[in-house]
Amino acid sequence: MSVRGVFDELKDKLRDVVPEAELRIKAELADAILRLKRERNAVILGHNYMEPALFHSVPDYTGDSLELCRAAARTSAETIVFCGVRFMAETAKILNPAKTVLIPSPDAGCSLAASIDAGDVRELKRRFPGVPVVVYINTYADVKAEADYCCTSGNAVDVVRSIESDTVIFVPDEYLAANVAGEVGMRLCRTPAEVDRPASDGRRTLIGWPGRCEVHDRFRVQDVESARRQFPDVLVLAHPECRPEVIEAADFAGSTSAMIRRVRDTDAASYLLLTECSMGDNIIAENPQKKLVRICSVRCPHMNEITLEQTLATLEKKRYEIDVPEPIRTRAARSIERMLTVA
Ligand code: 13P
Ligand code: SF4
Repeated sequence: MSVRGVFDELKDKLRDVVPEAELRIKAELADAILRLKRERNAVILGHNYMEPALFHSVPDYTGDSLELCRAAARTSAETIVFCGVRFMAETAKILNPAKTVLIPSPDAGCSLAASIDAGDVRELKRRFPGVPVVVYINTYADVKAEADYCCTSGNAVDVVRSIESDTVIFVPDEYLAANVAGEVGMRLCRTPAEVDRPASDGRRTLIGWPGRCEVHDRFRVQDVESARRQFPDVLVLAHPECRPEVIEAADFAGSTSAMIRRVRDTDAASYLLLTECSMGDNIIAENPQKKLVRICSVRCPHMNEITLEQTLATLEKKRYEIDVPEPIRTRAARSIERMLTVA
């Protein structure tokens, strides 16, 4: 394809979202990336939170953490360029260790992944011996290596349901833990004293950890209420990293891809997305006839690190290679593979 061809495709998809003047610059970058990608036998994976011009031009696969995890595991390309944050690129390396995995920015972190380390999980296992450990995919490899199961927003409920134990450790997102506990009928405890107190109603116990997503933590029930007043028939979709009371107030909760599908497959008067705001642009691009109510002050600063400029530099310089030490990788792979078998 030529720069002109890339520009025409982007204009077709993004005419209501990105000004043409900007699309011209982005098309040049995307065209250079597409050429280098072929030369280097690379595959590009793009998370749903990527900015619209990147999302709609260079990735071979787009999706949520679970879908990209599966795509990373089965690719035969020599190099995987992961347009997402570091824990996602690490997961690709864990599942497909023979490949070179590159991330466009070394600074693409995640507040949830930063909230817990391997020592914290070892300490939880010491305090609660024999209790199975589930870690959210938004964690680094050494944390996954300490776990029995990994999970994503798309399968956390199924993974916890599959475990036959009265008590389960679930880290690090305290809101996701509360939302999963609510869904499967467990009680959420945060301290050993709470765990020691038997549940009066016989419910099983989920032991949480005080990690939060700095983006989803910002949404409040008042945001939902005021949107409903202003746009009476609005359908409110929330990511399960939101506070439990926000999930309760919303009409639907699901992974980023589940939210995308819900907009595509329904016909509401308007939609409010309680998640990272670039995804709203990508949804508008694919559903131009639908009305999205935007809360656009909420952009993930880590996902924002990944740009077309950085992606081009990554391919040119083969830089920011992900390395996971083999003993950690094999243990982390076990928890991810167990998740893939359950879900
Ligand atoms: P998904 O797995 O739903 O794409 O979520 C990833 C994430 O980081 C959400 O903030
Ligand atoms: Fe992490 Fe939240 Fe950003 Fe997702 S949106 S990558 S959970 S900080």
